[in-house]
Amino acid sequence: MTIYVSLDSAAKALGADDIARALQDRAAARGIDIRLVRTGSRGMIWLEPLVEISRDGGPRVAHGPVTADQIDALLDGTAPNLGPTEDIPFLARQTRLTFARCGITDPLSMDDYIAHGGLTGLRRALEMTAAEIVEETKTSGLRGRGGAGFPTGIKWDTVRQAQADQKYIVCNADEGDSGTFADRMIMEGDPLSLIEGMVIAGLATHATKGFVYIRSEYPDAIAVMDRAIRIAREHGLLGHSLLGSSHAFDMEIRVGAGAYVCGEETSLLNSLEGKRGVVRAKPPLPALEGAFGKPTVVNNVLSLATIPVIFEKGAQHYADFGLGRSRGTMPIQIAGNVRHGGLFETAFGLPLGDLVNDIGGGTASGRPVKAVQVGGPLGAYFAPHQFDTPFGYEDFDQAGGLIGHAGITVFDDTADMGALARFAMEFCAVESCGKCTPCRIGAVRGVETIDRIRAGDTAATDLLTDLCDTMTSGSLCALGGFTPYPVMSALRLFPQDFGTTKEAAE
Ligand SMILES: Cc1cc2nc3c(=O)[nH]c(=O)nc-3n(C[C@H](O)[C@H](O)[C@H](O)COP(=O)(O)O)c2cc1C
Ligand code: SF4
Repeated sequence: MTIYVSLDSAAKALGADDIARALQDRAAARGIDIRLVRTGSRGMIWLEPLVEISRDGGPRVAHGPVTADQIDALLDGTAPNLGPTEDIPFLARQTRLTFARCGITDPLSMDDYIAHGGLTGLRRALEMTAAEIVEETKTSGLRGRGGAGFPTGIKWDTVRQAQADQKYIVCNADEGDSGTFADRMIMEGDPLSLIEGMVIAGLATHATKGFVYIRSEYPDAIAVMDRAIRIAREHGLLGHSLLGSSHAFDMEIRVGAGAYVCGEETSLLNSLEGKRGVVRAKPPLPALEGAFGKPTVVNNVLSLATIPVIFEKGAQHYADFGLGRSRGTMPIQIAGNVRHGGLFETAFGLPLGDLVNDIGGGTASGRPVKAVQVGGPLGAYFAPHQFDTPFGYEDFDQAGGLIGHAGITVFDDTADMGALARFAMEFCAVESCGKCTPCRIGAVRGVETIDRIRAGDTAATDLLTDLCDTMTSGSLCALGGFTPYPVMSALRLFPQDFGTTKEAAE
């Protein structure tokens, strides 16, 4: 009997370690022979602690959320179950490419990794020139998953063509967006895919050194990545001779100190260099003058961790999924007041409402959905009448929003959207790096102005609109530049929560 329990920190927070220990202790006490495998997360957080049991080589059968009093019944095969894990609709409806191995393999077993397609992509890339690797990445249509959605292949091409004695690959694992956790899940659940992706990025650009900048709030991810890097070195996935070839690449982890703005790529580079996390003016682009002044690829965890499967299955296979210029799949994170919170990877194009109501199951409170915020603290709010918007970069742009890092946070009808708009300005004021005036001063004035509107000064809505226009057009980076998205969408959609009318809000 093989028993699978996740070691993901969300599963652990819900008691997975205790359940795993109890299963081991009880099996030993009763003389039952079990093999316990700690995997990454399947992404069905509401079922954690999830225990999967395979008997006599059969399919994994799911049990969850498991309680301590079910241990004996689990070992006896009499505990209530949810059927084969793969048949649970939340999983069965997904197209898992980036997350294909997550929740299935032991994250730190190179054998498991290879048995499930790992290193196939790198072996293929090692047969290609740097220009061919870049071309394959362009063909895949992959766009940056960190928020800006910039085509990954084009970024790599700029670094490839830059002349320098040293180039770097920097993985942005700051994952600051509210309601997002996909980067953490990959680092804890399939860290070797991220390493393989960074190595391929190195081959594409002639970079030989990489950094993973991980937020300090992710101690488990840091620990797993650290061990994975050692394992990768032992197996020749990192080092002087990659898989026996003449190519070299190595990497190390840098830990952030907890600032949202340090997820912005130039601020991150300053922090990585040991400087204050303040945004740098562009140009120069990091692709030409990045870490330590050298040409640098800065990519999100998901962008890099998707590269191996693109090279394993072929760029066209990846590009065949999706909608318009939003190609491939997106690991969407559903959180907030929602019944079935978790990670759902699917091709671009699914309507927002399907994700919230059908897949997410509506609110956890059972009350009607009032709004969802998509794309973290800088993302716009969407009301149910906009739920037919297909999940994709262009469609969200046209609807006045952004998909960002694909986090969806759900609110029920008790949410006070005026208070949430105020929070958006307050967040910007607290997290502002202070480099430019529209953000540093504007966010503080924004809080004051929203307070005035809510105190009955409805004429101040014009002032708020002007202020948001100034922040949008005058801010140096998207922290100040995008904060107007949640503020203005909340005001437009829910003027009553500001104590004003639709006409005054427009
Ligand atoms: C305020 C702010 C915070 C950001 N936080 C993150 C983050 O936590 N993770 C991330 O990958 N990108 C973040 N970004 C986007 C990065 O600047 C950059 O676009 C990204 O790392 C590039 O990688 P990609 O092309 O793979 O998306 C942030 C941007 C801004 C303006
Ligand atoms: S918009 Fe805000 S965070 Fe960005 S550079 Fe200006 S002050 Fe710094």
